[in-house]
Amino acid sequence: MEWMIDTANLKAIKEAVDMLPVTGVTTNPSILKAELPFDYEEQLKKIRLLMPGCSMHVQLGSEECGAMLEEAADLRALLGKDIYVKVPVTENGIKAIRLLKKRGMNVTATAIYYPMQGMLAVSAGADYLAPYCNRMEQNEIDFGKAIGQMRDMIDLGNYPAKILGASFKNAGQVVRAIDCGAHAVTVAPDLLRSALKSALVTDAVAAFTRDYQRITTGE
Ligand code: E4P
Repeated sequence: MEWMIDTANLKAIKEAVDMLPVTGVTTNPSILKAELPFDYEEQLKKIRLLMPGCSMHVQLGSEECGAMLEEAADLRALLGKDIYVKVPVTENGIKAIRLLKKRGMNVTATAIYYPMQGMLAVSAGADYLAPYCNRMEQNEIDFGKAIGQMRDMIDLGNYPAKILGASFKNAGQVVRAIDCGAHAVTVAPDLLRSALKSALVTDAVAAFTRDYQRITTGE
């Protein structure tokens, strides 16, 4: 099971890495835009430095296949060969995924709303598939069923691809994605931390602290 953080906020990344068992970081242009102003390449390098030994998934902004290949090569030169380039699963994207894999790059297929998109990305050689769980739910697409169907295809064909659930807005969605077969999830740090500090949890711990005080000091 892999837990990744879905953010480009340097403070949130640092706190999450210190506290949580995270194995990677994901961004997209909209997530990065929320952190402006910055120099794009410098911001990516800072994120990379904050997460040594973790996977970093950066989305390509280009739409044409040739431009995607160039952008991916630039990202690899900037961030290292272990970088994962996120490629939206469109016609151009699927073509780019096949060519990027031939060039030995790590690929995360993204913007997945339909199981068939994911299945095509698996056949094209993608390393991770990122279904957009909340957005699917908002569009009345059963993301749990879709994850299960993609997982069955991966397992039956013995493909190395992993499902990376993304676009979460509540803990129930995260748990359902994992339950339905996601190998990994990427979650905003605040949502991850919210599971650890609900009133039920903090009240229970406060009661234990009071009782500990009583049994150790008699007060
Ligand atoms: C991460 O890889 C995705 O791009 C992200 O989770 C999408 O989230 P959103 O639906 O909140 O934009």
